[in-house]
Amino acid sequence: VTKIGVLTSGGDSPGMNAAIRAVVRTAIYHGIDVFGVSRGYNGMIEDEIEQMNSRSVANIIQRGGTILKTARSKEFFTEEGRKKAYENLRKRGIDGLVVIGGNGSFTGAYKLSQEFGIPCVGLPATIDKDLYGTDFTIGFDTAVNTAVSCIDRIRDTADAHDRLFIVEVMGRHAGYIALHSGIATGAENILIPEDETSLDEVIASLSEKEKRKKLVNLVVVAEGHSSGGANGVAEILKSHLPNLDTRVTILGHIQRGGSPTCLDRLIASRMGYHAVESLIEGRHDVMIGIFQNTINFTPIEVAIREKQRMSDDWMRIVKILAS
Ligand code: F6P
Repeated sequence: VTKIGVLTSGGDSPGMNAAIRAVVRTAIYHGIDVFGVSRGYNGMIEDEIEQMNSRSVANIIQRGGTILKTARSKEFFTEEGRKKAYENLRKRGIDGLVVIGGNGSFTGAYKLSQEFGIPCVGLPATIDKDLYGTDFTIGFDTAVNTAVSCIDRIRDTADAHDRLFIVEVMGRHAGYIALHSGIATGAENILIPEDETSLDEVIASLSEKEKRKKLVNLVVVAEGHSSGGANGVAEILKSHLPNLDTRVTILGHIQRGGSPTCLDRLIASRMGYHAVESLIEGRHDVMIGIFQNTINFTPIEVAIREKQRMSDDWMRIVKILAS
């Protein structure tokens, strides 16, 4: 490779900037020209592509969001859109691409490589941690720590008023943010799509607690849970437990912003470095992951298809520890 492009795509996640910085500086170290593509695949189609240098990525490792901006591109899912995008890469001689994002972004990368032979490497960046082939995704640690500090605050006020709080966290179809933040804040119940815990069980446990005058309770619910999120859960719980003073908090996009944690900066730097090394070594169409503290390469089509498996001891731990 002599010229590579880098883009961030899909929902932003804290640490994307650290990843961009690592890609740009590693490429420059190897004498490779590096181009930043703005606004994900939309910018590739609209020709918003500019050469970057070492200074373009100064003072960004600590910043949330993404200096390249991001988007979920509808046009890129059309053949015509991809053709336009490819032309803009071709005219600059870009012969490698680093795509920082999640599942949807990798699907785009896979198509680009299949249809036009552009070698791509994916870096897993999503707060949802819903990707196969890696123990970490860039942004998850920051998001879950943000959720933990918010839920700690909620517990203070819940405790002061003897209230039941239903807190909804993000995660799309995955329950990792809910599971991790719920365990770390001592939530009495956690509702995630990967687990079968029914609302009947939650009602039974809360009414047992009501009988022994334990009125302060936190239920952390993943937005992807079948109950329809915190409002859906609250409606059902209120109708069965009318004496509990119940409130709902939806954390929302707060979880996406903020300065990345040390862990997110480290994995972003390590993965960004390996993305460029991988392109140089001719290892294409893979997603870079970290697995058992070793860099792991998952074919992009596998990363798109497979789901990360959640260890099954977690929900048992929740039930035993939150009594
Ligand atoms: O994938 C990241 C994520 O924050 C999900 O947790 C959430 O479901 C979704 O993006 C929200 O998307 P948007 O920012 O488009 O509202």
